[in-house]
Amino acid sequence: MKTIIKGGTIVNEGKQFVGDIVIENEIIESIGSLTSGFTGDEAVVDATGCYILPGVIDDHVHFREPGLTEKADMESESRAAAAGGVTCFFDMPNTVPQTTNVEALEEKFRLAATKSHVNYSFFFGATNSNTDLFTQLDEHSIPGIKLFMGSSTGNMLVDRDETLDRIFSEARLPIMAHCEDTGIINRNMAEFKERYGDDPPVSAHPLIRSLEACLASTTKAIELAVRHQARLHIAHITTAEELKLITASNFVRDGKFPLVTAEATVGHLFFSMTDYEKLGAKIKVNPAIKDILDREALRSGLMDGRISVIGTDHAPHLLSQKEGGASRATSGMPMIQFSLVTMLELVDEGVLTLEQLVELMAHNPARLFEVRQRGFIRPGYQADLVIVRPDSPWTVTPQYIESKCGWSPMEGHTYQWKVQHTFCNGHHIYNDGVVDTDYIGQPIQFR
Ligand code: NCD
Ligand code: ZN
Repeated sequence: MKTIIKGGTIVNEGKQFVGDIVIENEIIESIGSLTSGFTGDEAVVDATGCYILPGVIDDHVHFREPGLTEKADMESESRAAAAGGVTCFFDMPNTVPQTTNVEALEEKFRLAATKSHVNYSFFFGATNSNTDLFTQLDEHSIPGIKLFMGSSTGNMLVDRDETLDRIFSEARLPIMAHCEDTGIINRNMAEFKERYGDDPPVSAHPLIRSLEACLASTTKAIELAVRHQARLHIAHITTAEELKLITASNFVRDGKFPLVTAEATVGHLFFSMTDYEKLGAKIKVNPAIKDILDREALRSGLMDGRISVIGTDHAPHLLSQKEGGASRATSGMPMIQFSLVTMLELVDEGVLTLEQLVELMAHNPARLFEVRQRGFIRPGYQADLVIVRPDSPWTVTPQYIESKCGWSPMEGHTYQWKVQHTFCNGHHIYNDGVVDTDYIGQPIQFR
């Protein structure tokens, strides 16, 4: 079975050019200008006026399965991913049960093999007592080890210094760390509760989960990584001060990253503190969305290479669980369906180029975690592709939302870009509003 995508502008590896892509079964067969060689049996997709990008690889999602499926599940969230142009996701271990032993990890792969519409893998979660399991992890099937150096949703805090030393000395896989100092946060929370009562307003969230809390924990994580020469990927970096600690990777082309890299999320790149007034706890996430100057620093980090990856930290909760203030409302928000179009909007605003977007959302996550045969538009690679159309205004309303929670912080927002088609392993998984829910993705291979 062959598919020909005709006449789009292909954006890949620092270049843009108009061309055609031939897909044979799962694989990109050729890229170029087709004038002959058709049999007439091919499926043809006209991409005139559109841009063709490698499918987005989201290195940070919480699909909530098993155990928290009232919020989300692999079927619903992978459907949202397909509709958003995301063809690969790495899911986090704060599910029920937590993904902190090999059996729980295998169970997630079993679930995904019947439910996930796009390609999948899962982080292994570090705890205060499971480093002895690291040798049992298959480096070819998972991206890395998730470490909560700050407490967040799911009670996975690792806070013993001797355990942190063991994790950084024994991990052979990249460590992706959530960095927030829980001691500082608890002290801030106690102060705010004294002033405001049991549930301080959500606008206090970035003052409770403060810059100091982020900086202390990120500094500690980097110190551990350097001391043990361990690969550290800092999840959802949020402040200008932390960014000063990160070395630019400058869109490496040889696959070599500095020891310490950073992820920024779409939410932290798009929103700032002023948005609490309108959106309240809907944009309450850990680490908190902070000052506009922090957002500007993150945006400049996209350009200068200090941010290596844009993820979503897609973390759906029921709207009822988002009620209350800085203490009572849960932290986390859904984003995966709108991550690519939001970043395309930032391209229009001149925050980054289209080529940089592709680096940050597809090439770099593939390089950093050594994903096999994905993340680039190259002959012989898996045909994971997204076709996006500019100048097509549409407004986010509940009817478009595929995530099970049924709400989005982007409701009411008008985008100029839309995702027109998504191909996952050569399969036309999303076609102008319709996800092929009969399709199941593949486990991602690494290294
Ligand atoms: C995440 C969640 O809800 O699982 N919440 C969040 O605010 N980011 C957990 C996390 O990544 O910290
Ligand atoms: Zn997260």
